Amino acid sequence: MSKSLEEAFSEASVHIINPATFVRAVLSGRRRNMQTEFERIDIRPVEIKGSVKLQISHNDGRATTTKNIDSDPLKITELLESGYANILVEHIKGSISIRITKSGEAHVSHTSKSLEQNLNHDKKKQRLLDPADPFLLEVGIADHKGAIKPSKNDKYLQVEEFLRLLVPTLEAAIIAGQIHKPTETNPLTIVDLGCGHAYLTFAAHQYLRSIGIPVHVTGIDVRTSSRDRNNKIAQNLGISETINFKAEEIASTTAQTADVVIALHACDTATDDAIAWAVMAASKLMLIAPCCHHDIQRQMSQSPEPWGALTKFGLMKERLGDLLTDSLRAQLLRIVGYRVEVIEFISGEHTPRNMMIRAVKTDAKAEAIDVQRYREICEQWGITPALEKKLPSLYIG
Ligand SMILES: C[S@@+](CC[C@H](N)C(=O)[O-])C[C@H]1O[C@@H](n2cnc3c(N)ncnc32)[C@H](O)[C@@H]1O
Repeated sequence: MSKSLEEAFSEASVHIINPATFVRAVLSGRRRNMQTEFERIDIRPVEIKGSVKLQISHNDGRATTTKNIDSDPLKITELLESGYANILVEHIKGSISIRITKSGEAHVSHTSKSLEQNLNHDKKKQRLLDPADPFLLEVGIADHKGAIKPSKNDKYLQVEEFLRLLVPTLEAAIIAGQIHKPTETNPLTIVDLGCGHAYLTFAAHQYLRSIGIPVHVTGIDVRTSSRDRNNKIAQNLGISETINFKAEEIASTTAQTADVVIALHACDTATDDAIAWAVMAASKLMLIAPCCHHDIQRQMSQSPEPWGALTKFGLMKERLGDLLTDSLRAQLLRIVGYRVEVIEFISGEHTPRNMMIRAVKTDAKAEAIDVQRYREICEQWGITPALEKKLPSLYIG
């Protein structure tokens, strides 16, 4: 239903300031010709010393900042008007989602469902994956007592943080109409490229289904042992209809298409294979956490001056090679029509490979400066990134 912005914001605000019924709100995306200070804002009610405040959290790509404010309608209206294109407000009887179109109209839709309010001000992060969930035992992350195995704790946390970034981006893309609303007959499709033991693959399937998102997940790994093990686990869990595994090279996988592509630490240029596959499959969303980087490092034989001052130190050269690799991946994605962010998905203590490239397909036409910057960096360093070779030239122009 179309409404004026005023009407839509007023409806959202009424729910947000109602301490008895408000559950949470998410503001994301950017309205045409408007700049937003943060990529996304989360609002939820919290009880502090007997009164209900609104907790406002935003992330600048590195850290999340949280502040608690009084439930003031003026402040809420200010936030709602601050340039976000997608607004989701949940209350105990359902949700309202507002999508502001390019022409400045508000498309408002409502759902009815029963939701619980959590006024807990506990700073401790709530776990998304219950350690006692049978899938964690099956994949080998938890033991028979439902406790996370110490040797698998880092992987468990990586998977959780990966999901924490996947879910809001996915919800925003669904609200924005970039991804269809998943149903049991037309579920969301996800492909996990280089899935290995499939911790993330199963976690994405189980968690998304647990929050009511019908999903079909495919895990691809070159190893037949991974495929056989993972398909057996899917059978044991009784979920083979909606999750399956193939033993294939990413570059020649028989998987046809996917709304969402995920890849967690696919080795070296397997990450480029994953990105190239996602681009050619026209995937709407990709979350890629790269692993080791050798391709560019091998090509960096001659540093353009004055960079020799840095590359004479082996360690610095290696780190610069990592940065160049991922910057050029991000730049290529911009060129082929994705909005790209580069973020830390987990703190470095749980994995040194903690960077993620998150990209949403917008089909925005690349600016000439983007192509020019990409070309100049490659020319100066005398390098051709693996990803460029994997993308047919028509994508790069
Ligand atoms: C470091 S493991 C990560 C596994 C899993 N994503 C995780 O985070 O636990 C990388 C996986 O990618 C797979 N792999 C590497 N290159 C591949 C390729 N070209 N095609 C398919 N799988 C590949 C490997 O077999 C391995 O299982």
